[in-house]
Amino acid sequence: MAKPKVFISRLIPEEGLSMLREAADADVWEDPLPPSYEKILEHSRDADGILSLLTDTIDAALMAASPRLKVISNMAVGYDNIDIAAATERGIPVGNTPGVLTDTTADFAFALLMAAARRLQEGVDYVRAGRWLAWGPRLLTGVDVHGATLGIIGFGRIGQAVARRSAGFGMRVLYNDPRRRPELEKSMNVAYADLDTLLRESDFITLHAELNATTRHLLNAEAFGKMKRGAVVVNTARGAMIDQRALSEALAFGRIRGAALDVTDPEPIPMSSPLLDLPNCIVVPHMASASVATRGRMARMAAANLLAGLRGERLPTCVNPEVYSKSPRS
Ligand code: GLV
Repeated sequence: MAKPKVFISRLIPEEGLSMLREAADADVWEDPLPPSYEKILEHSRDADGILSLLTDTIDAALMAASPRLKVISNMAVGYDNIDIAAATERGIPVGNTPGVLTDTTADFAFALLMAAARRLQEGVDYVRAGRWLAWGPRLLTGVDVHGATLGIIGFGRIGQAVARRSAGFGMRVLYNDPRRRPELEKSMNVAYADLDTLLRESDFITLHAELNATTRHLLNAEAFGKMKRGAVVVNTARGAMIDQRALSEALAFGRIRGAALDVTDPEPIPMSSPLLDLPNCIVVPHMASASVATRGRMARMAAANLLAGLRGERLPTCVNPEVYSKSPRS
């Protein structure tokens, strides 16, 4: 029997790739840059499954043009690049990779928070520019992380993992999430706060929610206006949760102290972005889950989802389980 055909939209880590090569006829996009929408369309036309990345737009038109498509597996925990409603409508299960990247991402959010607080990048740039002439009593003074108030927006797996790290720094933690978690408030020593209170009281604000219509531009000019003047914003979630124009103004006019962004809108950030000229803004290329071990786990999990879908089995981690209670459209 012919093997099912799958399109894999980039060279994912070998542990996932070998699983797919063994069980399927794998069409792998090997360029370091992602395929264009047209290329994904072309390669998916006769595919039974797609292994996509967060750089790939998988929309209703693409699904309609891929009549054999049985499963979409995103190698990411987020899935805002996929039209989930359209997939459900067509009876296509969509998988993601939750859990395996939680601690790695939380580690990195904390690294960004510390780097912004203690002006790490400015220090590196200072030395590299040959400006380190002597120890200075006022040189590159930042703000303390220990004892500060941390506001966590989005208190799911990653938000909670950040809260656990903050305990070691003796931070006071506020969280905001559509789902209040009274059972965790006591055990984790965190307090629920409405968004306004969190914005007004936090020294550090870190985003860990999913991108949707409610969270798009959640941090806009009005939100920056409510923050403390010394506030630092960290984003390892999705770039579009921040209105970047409002952020660059808030940073340029000293409305807030600093920002550290793993994610931007768009990605990659245009070199003309004013954020790249601001010394109090750190921007890195969407790398919070990028440890060798975690990317390997994500690849395996994404491969397992894809293979389950091809076999007609329930995906181990499915973002639209309602697909199983619906009969597929013929
Ligand atoms: C990364 O941003 C992910 O969603 O896994």
